[in-house]
Amino acid sequence: MKLKIALLPGDGIGPEVTAQAVKCLQAVEETFGHEFEYVEAVVGAAAMDKSGDPLPEKTLELCKNSDAVLFGAIGDPKYDNDPDAKVRPEQGLLRLRKELGLFCNIRPIKVFPTLMEKSPLKKKVIAGTDFVIYRELTSGIYFGDKSVSADGTSATDVCTYTESEISRIAHLAFKAAKRRRKKLTLIDKANVLESSRLWRRTVGKIGESYPEVALDFMFIDNAAMQLVLKPSQFDVILTENMFGDILSDEGSAVGGSLGLLPSASTGDNHALFEPVHGSYPQATGKDIANPVASILSAAMLLDHFKLDEESRAIVIAVLKSIKKGIVSPDLNTSSKYGTNHIGDFISANIRDSEDYLILN
Ligand code: NAD
Ligand code: IPM
Ligand code: MN
Repeated sequence: MKLKIALLPGDGIGPEVTAQAVKCLQAVEETFGHEFEYVEAVVGAAAMDKSGDPLPEKTLELCKNSDAVLFGAIGDPKYDNDPDAKVRPEQGLLRLRKELGLFCNIRPIKVFPTLMEKSPLKKKVIAGTDFVIYRELTSGIYFGDKSVSADGTSATDVCTYTESEISRIAHLAFKAAKRRRKKLTLIDKANVLESSRLWRRTVGKIGESYPEVALDFMFIDNAAMQLVLKPSQFDVILTENMFGDILSDEGSAVGGSLGLLPSASTGDNHALFEPVHGSYPQATGKDIANPVASILSAAMLLDHFKLDEESRAIVIAVLKSIKKGIVSPDLNTSSKYGTNHIGDFISANIRDSEDYLILN
């Protein structure tokens, strides 16, 4: 298969981890006989340094004209620490999601059997954890009207949802639940928020056409607790933009590190793949960032194009690296392995999967 992949490494550890994901995709190309073209462009603070714009037109055009986008991370402390900054790196990612229509963000959370000890939670609590968050990504409070009063003493962010924005992701979440353990939990704050009540009404109605899926509802405050109390109770979580953002970082602690979580953002015409984590500025250039989230995002990219064996080869190689203890310091404080070495190890093992394929 031929694919044109837009590479947007971004800021902080973004370029380091994306480079490892590209190594793995190249190993897949060679092993399985595909041809991927990679075209790189700037985004976030790196783009602002060049042109002042966190999403230059050229970058957006490239993404629109590619089969998929592989995104690193954006964000820089110089903007994080300046509440008065008018333009911010994050706006580049938000605009990209909106422009590409990436309304459905998929964030799978699984506990790797060999990493059970790494979770801050007890083994008996995390055993059997395997859920996926369907996070609405192009609406809600992130994209509502924003304003600050003239005297600067009050500020407003509006949260709006429409029935159609809810139903298009709800259908995808129900379909995912049908393929999985047939349970869908809508997480909201329907005891307080009108927008959440619209989610409940809309999702409840859609649920009637998926009778094989057990639908339940949970308030976000309880869900935040349940996620660490009994994470194995969840199968598919469906939720709005901001709740999904918060729950996914919380969920990462169950599996041991945010550096392990990949994601796919899909819409009707485009798809983008990126780690759940941010630019982790403290680690920039130190060769200590965990590249697995980015590498597994590349596996999700392959899944998206129905390259199942290829995607599985990446996952198997990642599992092997973890089993052999080839992990970054977030998983083993005394680890001697760096970001690059882990990428080399995993990509070499993807090439080894050639033998595996011949044998099978
Ligand atoms: P972060 O995700 O960058 O880091 C939070 C913590 O998670 C780190 O201190 C580290 O302990 C751990 N971590 C994250 N990625 C890791 C990795 N690959 N390997 C090992 N450990 C890892 O979040 P933050 O510190 O709140 O934000 C830093 C910047 O990133 C901000 O500017 C923020 O806006 C931005 N951000 C961007 C994205 C994105 O690009 N999608 C996502 C979240 C945050
Ligand atoms: C994420 C990030 C982004 C979000 C930020 C950087 C805009 O935290 O992808 O999880 O909040 O969606
Ligand atoms: Mn986030």
